Amino acid sequence: MLPRCAVSVCHVLMLVLCLSAAEDFDWTKNDHSSFYYGTFPAGFSWGAGSSAYQTEGAWDKDGKGLSIWDVFSHKKGKIQLNETGDSSCEGYYKVKDDVSLMKELKLNHYRFSISWPRLVPTGIKSEHINEKGIQHYEQLIDHLLENNITPIVTLYHWDLPQVLQEKYGGWQNISMVNHFNEFANLCFERFGNRVKHWITFNNPWSVAVEGYETGEHAPGLKLRGTGAYRAAHHIIKAHAKVWHTYDTQWRAKQKGLVGISLSGDWGEPVDISNQKDIEAAERYVQFYLGWFATPIFHGDYPQVMKDFIGRKSVQQGLGASRLPAFSPQEKSYIKGTCDFLGVGHFTTRYITQKTNPSGRSSSSYFSDRDLAELVDPRWPDPGSEWLYSVPWGFRRLLNFVKTQYGNPMVYVTENGVSEKMLCTELCDDWRIQYYKDYINEMLKAIKDGVNVKGYTAWSLLDKFEWDEGYSERFGLYYVDFRNKNKPRYPKASVQFYKRIISSNGFPNQREVENWRRKAVETCSSSNQLLAADPLTSHMEMVTEIVVPTVCTLSILLSAIFLMFLLRRRN
Ligand code: NOJ
Repeated sequence: MLPRCAVSVCHVLMLVLCLSAAEDFDWTKNDHSSFYYGTFPAGFSWGAGSSAYQTEGAWDKDGKGLSIWDVFSHKKGKIQLNETGDSSCEGYYKVKDDVSLMKELKLNHYRFSISWPRLVPTGIKSEHINEKGIQHYEQLIDHLLENNITPIVTLYHWDLPQVLQEKYGGWQNISMVNHFNEFANLCFERFGNRVKHWITFNNPWSVAVEGYETGEHAPGLKLRGTGAYRAAHHIIKAHAKVWHTYDTQWRAKQKGLVGISLSGDWGEPVDISNQKDIEAAERYVQFYLGWFATPIFHGDYPQVMKDFIGRKSVQQGLGASRLPAFSPQEKSYIKGTCDFLGVGHFTTRYITQKTNPSGRSSSSYFSDRDLAELVDPRWPDPGSEWLYSVPWGFRRLLNFVKTQYGNPMVYVTENGVSEKMLCTELCDDWRIQYYKDYINEMLKAIKDGVNVKGYTAWSLLDKFEWDEGYSERFGLYYVDFRNKNKPRYPKASVQFYKRIISSNGFPNQREVENWRRKAVETCSSSNQLLAADPLTSHMEMVTEIVVPTVCTLSILLSAIFLMFLLRRRN
């Protein structure tokens, strides 16, 4: 995501630029404001998602190895309030409870990720397989299937085994391709009879940019201008290898699908009559989603990335482009390795052209793009600083996917909105609004002909939000992290999302407004439950700490008193 200081500069810039641009911008185009009542195609799959490090906890239990996130989060100053995912939602111990929440929502699918170091503690399969880790995911998968919930399984949601980082430098090293392939193969072997939807990587953009360029995420490296491109290069090769492994060794027998989940914000030109802004906005999306999607669908990086990074590398006096190149064999090996495309989408930016100085010291992924990101101050931003609610951008992004990549089968693998920790409010009216509008734009995109097969609300539970710790809550269910049992409470959005699922869309205005009213009404009773919770924690403290301490002290005092009496007698 965009660095914070840049966002603030953008705010100011936006006030000036957008206000003048808004007059030119045709807000009625693409039906920005009109709501579309209608239903989704039969068989459309409704789900919710999570990831291992963000929810499981049990970071060092039952033979699990360390991941880069375990190590990163334990370093002081990396995460808000120095929080960690050590216990998080304790999801590792709450499989049955969480599946019953999914039942309550009537979900068709649940998207979760497998922790690589929980299965293969050192990351190297030939060294050791942790059977207890396997059992955990077997239990989860079986329980989902018993409840008619389809598992959609991500193989890499950012928790690389720490040993691979220390030994080889993680995704900077080509050897990750084979190690990841071995791990994926193990998952196909053990779970593939039951799992039919596999996602190789979740949001590799973040892995590359935030892990190896800005260092905000694990492993925290700041290899500006080169690290992200090299990491992405290896990730794309690893994805292709895993797809081929499945295709040649498992597909005939298991009949499943292998895709990748890419994140992309939409980029809209500030001034739609300015060719430079139009090109800058296209570049923004190509450097984001296109960076990974273009090789996978067309065999090579987007031309605009090759041109811009190549030209800047020459200007910087480098002998070769900082963007690595695929050989002709690699191109044809990578092309077409996607049975479905996972799309993670949250927000939109206005984009304008901005030429950056091309000195070597200033080289970075961000400056390579020659653009500035702006936001409209009128866009709602209830939670995360980067997350503005701009529903129409979703429809545009989905249409971009359709036209650029030959209308692939799409699963929306992440979409949702957060709130700040300060709001312990379960009546999340703004989240209802966000889901209602974004899901509606997705429905319009389907009417446009985009081949969307399923939607995953992000996320089922509040959870560890990476470098933001627990300060940003994305959950449909509120998790009380102060209580060691990590109880879950439904927010109002649970009721609303449930209605969308059971109606497979939006029947008519009156009903949808009714859902919303009812959802907000019922959440006040859940609010009371939550309000009572500090009392519960207080009671727990009384029974677990105060009572034993008082008892011990009383025994000690009585003993001293007894000794005193005995001495006096003698
Ligand atoms: C994308 C990441 O995949 C997910 O883990 C995270 O919770 C969301 N972005 C929200 O920041």
